[in-house]
Amino acid sequence: MKSIAVIWSSPNTDGLTASAKEQFIKGIREAGAEVTEIHLNKKHIEHCRACGNGWGTCNKLGSCVIKDDFAEIYKTLSDADGIVWISAVYWSDMTECFKAFFDRLRRCDAARNHLLAEKRCVLAACAGGTGRGTLECLTQLERGLTHMGMRAYDRIPVVRYNRDYILPALFEAGKTYVDRLENGFEMYY
Ligand SMILES: Cc1cc2nc3c(=O)[nH]c(=O)nc-3n(C[C@H](O)[C@H](O)[C@H](O)COP(=O)(O)O)c2cc1C
Repeated sequence: MKSIAVIWSSPNTDGLTASAKEQFIKGIREAGAEVTEIHLNKKHIEHCRACGNGWGTCNKLGSCVIKDDFAEIYKTLSDADGIVWISAVYWSDMTECFKAFFDRLRRCDAARNHLLAEKRCVLAACAGGTGRGTLECLTQLERGLTHMGMRAYDRIPVVRYNRDYILPALFEAGKTYVDRLENGFEMYY
C-alpha cells in the first residue's frame, strides 16, 4: 500500500485550502492508499538562523540545530512514497509558515541528505482573494521542490471562481495520483 504525505498550510481550518486538501485526501483514501496529513500551521517551526555564517549543521550533518517540529516532519516526508503540497496564496506566494519550513528543508536535503530527491509530487495553491498570484505561488513551490530534486506532476490552481468545479476535480486528482504512484507516470521526467 502506498503511503502519501499531504502537507498543507493555511490558518483557516474550514477555508478554501482546507476544502482542497480534504478532497485530495478523500481521493487518495478512495484509491486505497494511506495518508499522513501535516497541517503546518499547527506545528512549531522556527525560521532558519543561517548559523555558521551561512552554512551550519544543515550542510555538514544534514540536520538543523533548532529543536522544534522540523525533524519529525522531514522524516515523515522522507518516508512517504509521494508528497502533496498545498498552500494558501499569500502575497502571490506560499504562506510564511510554508516558507519557514521550506527554507530549512531545502538546506538539509539539497545540501546534504538527498532523501527527497526524485519524489513525485502534486502541488495546489489556493487563493481566496482575486486569484492573482496563484500561478506565482505554484512556481515558487516548484522552484523549491526542484532544488531538492523532486518532480511535480500536476500544479493545480484553486480559486474562488473555480471552486465548484475544481474541488470535485481534486478528489479525482487524489485517485489518479495513487494510480500513477502504483502503476507509473507514463512520462520520463
Ligand atoms: C496576508 C494575505 C495575503 C493574501 N494574498 C493573496 C493574493 O496574493 N492573492 C489572492 O488571490 N488572495 C490572497 N489572499 C487571500 C487568501 O488566498 C485567502 O485567505 C484564501 O482563502 C486562502 O485560503 P483559506 O480559505 O484557507 O484562508 C491573501 C490573504 C492573506 C491573509
